[in-house]
Amino acid sequence: MIRMNGVVKRFGTKEVLSDVTFAVKEREVFGLLGPSGAGKTTIINILTNQLDADGGSHGIGVTPFETGLMLDEDGLYARLNCLENLNIFADIYKIPRSRSMEALKDVCLADAAKKPVNKLSNGMRQRLALARAILHKPKVMFLDEPTSGLDPGTARGIHKLINNLRDNGATVFLTTHNMEEAVKLCDNVALLHKGIIVERGAPADICRRYGAVKTVPDLESVFIKLTGVELE
Ligand SMILES: Nc1ncnc2c1ncn2[C@@H]1O[C@H](COP(=O)(O)OP(=O)(O)O)[C@@H](O)[C@H]1O
Ligand SMILES: [Mg+2]
Repeated sequence: MIRMNGVVKRFGTKEVLSDVTFAVKEREVFGLLGPSGAGKTTIINILTNQLDADGGSHGIGVTPFETGLMLDEDGLYARLNCLENLNIFADIYKIPRSRSMEALKDVCLADAAKKPVNKLSNGMRQRLALARAILHKPKVMFLDEPTSGLDPGTARGIHKLINNLRDNGATVFLTTHNMEEAVKLCDNVALLHKGIIVERGAPADICRRYGAVKTVPDLESVFIKLTGVELE
């Protein structure tokens, strides 16, 4: 459903992605794990055609209209309320505005429908960004650090929503620097360090490859072993 083959990206003379290769199957939850600056957002930007690669090839098995995107910078209109923000998107995507309230219900924001975005907590704002990303029921979802900066309770809510997306047949591509989140949610992960994928596969398989068994703490130690840096 999603693939990259030998992708290279440079900003000026600095190579930020080197020979990045991976594939994500339909209905899989795939996690790109790496510290800040590893190249995670750049990979999403290339896959969603917001940025050109300097080498290699990549593709998605659905049309751009069938993909959803939740980014770090959420691009919500601060002075408009939740429902108005979603209605703008509904109009752009030419889907009925009735879908806006459904999406707010999906992320448990129905009660805040009339609240302006600049009055929302971080967690609510994140959920609204997710509601907007799922508004048109995309078949492929890109989530860039969907839970970064959120309290554990709100993060768990987002995790539940990600599992719902999968249950409804979507393919999910997420980035995170949280090992626990990756192990909990992802069928497969790729460990990214300085634009290079140092390992990939099912978390438990990666751990086993390095003689480790306790998935979460061991995946962390595998990461440190391979890169020399900690994730968080
Ligand atoms: N528009 C840009 N111009 C120059 N350098 C950039 C640009 N965008 C990202 N970079 C650099 O590319 C590297 C990867 O960035 P990014 O993909 O944002 O990493 P991550 O999302 O993993 O934190 C970083 O070193 C960052 O400074
Ligand atoms: Mg990023």
